[in-house]
Parts: sequence; structure tokens; C-alpha cells
Amino acid sequence: MKETLKYLAGIAGPSGYGSKSTAEQVTQDYCWSSSVPSHRLTAIITGATSGIGAETARVLAKRGVRIVMPARDLAKASKVKEGIQRENPKAEVIIMEIDLSSLTSVNRFCSQFLALRLPLNILINNGGIYSKGLEYSEDKIEMTFATNYLGHHFLTEKLLEKMVETAAQTGIRGRIINVSSVIHSWVKRESFCFNQLLNPKNYNGTKAYAQSKLANILHVKELAKQLKARNARVTINAVHPGIVKTGIIRAHKGFITDSVFFIASKLLKSTSQGASTTCYVALSPELEGVTGKYFADCNENECSNLANDESEAYKLWKQTRFLIHRRLCQPTA
Ligand SMILES: NC(=O)c1ccc[n+]([C@@H]2O[C@H](COP(=O)([O-])OP(=O)(O)OC[C@H]3O[C@@H](n4cnc5c(N)ncnc54)[C@H](OP(=O)(O)O)[C@@H]3O)[C@@H](O)[C@H]2O)c1
Repeated sequence: MKETLKYLAGIAGPSGYGSKSTAEQVTQDYCWSSSVPSHRLTAIITGATSGIGAETARVLAKRGVRIVMPARDLAKASKVKEGIQRENPKAEVIIMEIDLSSLTSVNRFCSQFLALRLPLNILINNGGIYSKGLEYSEDKIEMTFATNYLGHHFLTEKLLEKMVETAAQTGIRGRIINVSSVIHSWVKRESFCFNQLLNPKNYNGTKAYAQSKLANILHVKELAKQLKARNARVTINAVHPGIVKTGIIRAHKGFITDSVFFIASKLLKSTSQGASTTCYVALSPELEGVTGKYFADCNENECSNLANDESEAYKLWKQTRFLIHRRLCQPTA
């Protein structure tokens, strides 16, 4: 009850920000000095063609960050780029093609990005879908899991050494952010089974979405541990952006009825409030070195017991690595 009232009132937490803080507000003190061009940060943001990702890209670009937008719809990406550059003619925005649901496409994007020889300071794994009906990716994996989790896991793996190298060369710690959701806490331990995630017997869109968002946090937990163990100057954290009426929420129609939506609308955030936690975790100097955590409303928060389970995180990691490398060695017909 206390937490709900705090949320509704937008009362600031220990960071000085709260549910009503916007992405612009939480980044207002970050300033890139154009007199030191080598300190310019480069960020890859998936899912930046709309919603929270587009706002994240706009605000980070405004703060001088070079933005790389991997997108499956290049025309939509160009419109977002035009909007950013209309506001900030000096903003650097690079559009590249990716389909997060396809391992081959993620692999191709990474090769093309690495060929540009740009540094990489920030990776924001934001893209996501909610799929009401059961669909399969070209790798024959349930589409929500393939897009929201598997594609991002592989993207992170392929770009990790570039981030470690950039951090060592520049002295600026790299940051990876997985955009998850509070809905991860709906997942029950007994229903979180790898084979069922890949090929569910009884598909339920909300359950699949929640499971993919739990997997995003477990990914954070395991990779943070590995990065710490090798003293790499790269952190990884998860965020819940809040509930924002974007494409993904509109796709929940049927699950969220109009009347429930009306009540829920009182709790909705604007897109700029929705992008604030991601932007805060991406740029805040106070979070230097903070890793393996979960944030909501621009403050560290508690995730579910299952999301905190280290053995579950390790198991998912091993199963994912095995699956990805087996699929890449033996592409499906
Ligand atoms: N909105 C909320 O209330 C809420 C709450 C909790 C968490 N989240 C999370 O926030 C993140 C952003 O969601 P949003 O609300 O901003 O939704 P959105 O407006 O629907 O944006 C989703 C983005 O993901 C991209 N995408 C989807 N499938 C893709 C694929 N196969 N390959 C490449 N890009 C793909 C979309 O690209 P296209 O333009 O090509 O479709 C779009 O840019 C998601 O991870 C979501 O789970 C949202």
C-alpha cells in the first residue's frame, strides 16, 4: 500500500528520482564535452523504432551519445532518426538491420557493427514483443522467447568483448541494460522449464511474455557474476520501465479489457517517464560499478525470489549457450 501511494504520488526514492521522473530529468547533469571527442559514448539500443526505446534513443542522443539503432523496419527507424536530428542536428544516429528473433540475423548485425570499428560503451537490450497466439521464429523457437530473450542473449555474447575492450581503452566502464518487467514475478518455479519455453504445449501469451522477462533478469544475474569474476569493467543491470501505453501494451488487448485498462490508466507512465529508469541506469555516475541489480522508478528494487536464484540463472545460461551454438552449427531447414 505504502509503495503504491509512493508510486502514485511520484515520491522520490534514495536516487532523488521516482515514478514521475522523466528521462530528460534523470540525465540532465550528464554532459559530454565535445572538446574531448574520444569520450563520446556509443550506445546500441534495440527496439528504438517506437515506444520506450525511441524515447531512450532521443534523450541519450540529446546528451551527446552516438546511437546505433538495430531495427527490422528500416523506414520506421529512419523516421525516428529524422525526429532526433530535427531536435539535435549534431546527433549521430546509425541505423542497421536486425531481426532479434533470428540468430542468423543477430550474428550478421554483430559482424557488420564490429566491422565499423566503433567503440561500444552501452548496450540496451530493449526490443520486445507480446504475442497473443503461438508463433515460431525461423529457428523454430517460440517467438516471444526468441525475440525478448534469446536474440538479446546472443547479441550480448557477440558484443561483450568489444565492450570489455572499449572499457579498457577508454577507462569508461561499459554498461549493459536488460529491459525486463515487473511481470517476471508472476512466473512460478514449476512452470519455468527450458524445453517448454522453446516449444510450449499449452501456450499463453501473458505467461510466455512473463517468462521471457524473467529470463532477461536471470541473464543479468549470471553475466554480472561472470564479469565480476574476470574483473571486466562492464556492468549489467535489469530495469522495469513501468507501465506505458506503447505498442506492446496495445497488443495485450483482450488480456487487459477496456474497463481494466481505464483503471490501469491511472497508473500508466508517459513514454518519457517509461524511459527514465533505462536512461538513469545508462548514464548515472552514482551507479558506477553497480552490477547484477534490478531497478524500477529509477531506484534499485527487489525482484522475485526466482529471479534472484543463482542456480536457476546458471542453469538457464548453460542451456541457452548450448542451444544457440547447436542451432548456429546446424541451422534449421
Ligand atoms: N510498455 C510497457 O508498459 C512495458 C512494461 C514493462 C516492460 N516493457 C518492456 O519495454 C521494452 C520496450 O517496449 P515498448 O513498450 O516500448 O514496446 P513497443 O513500442 O512495442 O516497442 C517494441 C520495440 O521492439 C522492436 N522489436 C520487436 N520485435 C523485434 C524483432 N524481431 N527484431 C527487432 N526489433 C523488434 C519493435 O520494432 P518494430 O517497430 O519493428 O515493431 C519496437 O521497436 C520491451 O522489452 C518491453 O517488454 C514495456
